Amino acid sequence: MINENSHTQYDVETDEELMNHLNNIIQECKNKPGMLIPILQQTQKLYGYLPESAIKKISTELNIPFSEVAGIIGFYSFFSTKAKGKNVVRVCQGTACYVRGGKDLLSAFKNVLKVGVGETTKDKKFSLEVSRCFGACGLAPVITINDEVIQRVKPSSVAEIVKSVED
Ligand code: FES
Repeated sequence: MINENSHTQYDVETDEELMNHLNNIIQECKNKPGMLIPILQQTQKLYGYLPESAIKKISTELNIPFSEVAGIIGFYSFFSTKAKGKNVVRVCQGTACYVRGGKDLLSAFKNVLKVGVGETTKDKKFSLEVSRCFGACGLAPVITINDEVIQRVKPSSVAEIVKSVED
C-alpha cells in the first residue's frame, strides 16, 4: 500500500509498518549503552527524516526526556526533523568553494528552485542545503545532488542541472 501522507525512503510502508520497523530498531538496541545516536541515525534512514512521533517513541522507550532527545537532534547537523524532497541538493559553502563562486551558485539554486536553505520545493522534488566541505576543494565550486558530486558548477548551469534531475 502506498503511503501518501508521509515522506519516507520506504514509501511503500504504511505509518503502522514504519512504527513497527522503528520498534524493532529500538528493541534491538535499547539495552546497549550509547545507542541513542545510532537509533536516531537508523530512524532517519527509515523515514528520511525524524518525525515527532518517532522522536516521542524513542524518548519513551529509552526513558530519556523528549527535550533531551530533541536537544541532541538539534546539536548534530546531519539530523533533520523536516521531511526532505526526493532529491537533496547541497551547495558547498566551505572556504574554497565560497571564494570561487559558491555564494552566487547558492543564489542561483535559490532562484531556480524558489526555496531557501533548509527548505523543500512545493512539489517535494528538491530540498536545498549547504555543506561546509566535500573534500573536493581543488574542483570548487562543488555541489552534490543526492550521492552524486558535481564539480566546477557555474550559476548559469543551474537551471539545466535541475532540469536534468527532474527528467
Ligand atoms: S570547500 Fe567546497 S569542497 Fe571543500
